[in-house]
Amino acid sequence: MTDIRFPHRVAAVRARMAEPETRTGEDGSTETTAAPVEALIISHLENVRYLTGFTGSNGLVVLTAGAAHFLTDGRYALQSAAEVPGFERTILPQGSSLSEVAGQKAKELGLKAVGFEAAHLPYSAYAALAKAVPDGVSLIPRSGVVESVRAVKDADEIAAIRRAITVADACFDYLLTIARPGRTEREVAWDMEVFMRSERGATRLSFDSIVGSGPNSALIHGRPSGRRLGESGGPEFLLCDFGCEVDGYCSDITRTVCVGGEPTDRMRAAYDAVRAAQQAALDAIRPGVPGRDVDTLARKLLAEAGFGEMQHGLGHALGRVVHDGPGLSQKSDVTLAPGMVLTVEPGVYVENWGGVRIEDDIVVTESGCEILTRSTKDLVAVAGA
Ligand code: GLY
Ligand code: MN
Repeated sequence: MTDIRFPHRVAAVRARMAEPETRTGEDGSTETTAAPVEALIISHLENVRYLTGFTGSNGLVVLTAGAAHFLTDGRYALQSAAEVPGFERTILPQGSSLSEVAGQKAKELGLKAVGFEAAHLPYSAYAALAKAVPDGVSLIPRSGVVESVRAVKDADEIAAIRRAITVADACFDYLLTIARPGRTEREVAWDMEVFMRSERGATRLSFDSIVGSGPNSALIHGRPSGRRLGESGGPEFLLCDFGCEVDGYCSDITRTVCVGGEPTDRMRAAYDAVRAAQQAALDAIRPGVPGRDVDTLARKLLAEAGFGEMQHGLGHALGRVVHDGPGLSQKSDVTLAPGMVLTVEPGVYVENWGGVRIEDDIVVTESGCEILTRSTKDLVAVAGA
């Protein structure tokens, strides 16, 4: 049989599932939250793709120490033969489900302690699996087994992320040529999408682009509207948060520019506060640092600058998907390690006035971090028509 495409990923997941799951408390104590498992049912499609290379919409992996099974339905019989070498492939009989056939595999393999992805198996699929496994099999909810391996990117993944970022950086240069007063946010967002996908070959957007002008730039995840850039009649912010997927990996960048004149002192003060907070965060990133502490640092600087509590986390993991896991936030328990790819995106938002966010993508290195996004972070005043 041909070899598995990503043997190091599969080996790392096997090692993780054979360890108990633990959680470290605030006081540093360690608590076991789930037992080791002899098999893991991997149902989350992003995790299935990461381990196998499968790009279809319905697939599941049953992984044990010695076996690697891939299940899919008849629509993907030919595609999976090409994409998923090295796994024992099963095409579902008509009328059966992934859960039913996964349960049958557990029986055939004589398994007793079977883990499943607690965050990614809908209750109905869990119920079908529970019905299909023989009596005496323990189904053990596990969290983050594949995700903890995915958190550290390998060289191929980082190379793909760099390609996706190159397209996003080029799109920012393009944005500076199209963000003219009088154009609507929706028109700008559409032009950016066409540029990334049609001109530069991105397969899709990482997420719906955020394009907010004037007071709309204070909407943290605002949707592009029919508002015309420069509608206030004076200088105003234009916040654009966008990214695209290339070779299965995402970019995610935010830049905030000034449209309709030169920035006012108030605009410069807000921009400088965000830029300083971001620089402090970038300087603090290195292996061994808790992601939460980097968020705390940027959050404190913005509050001290008079902008109150930042209403979102400082950054997230970036990879197969735009929110690829926890990163720099108060709810993150990640300790930074070389190879992690993260966003760093502080922002300030003032209702009925405007907002500023600056977002870079970085990779943690042995001694700090490398900033992957190259677009300028100087406050650019976009020339008028
Ligand atoms: N850049 C969009 C987000 O991180 O949610
Ligand atoms: Mn982001």
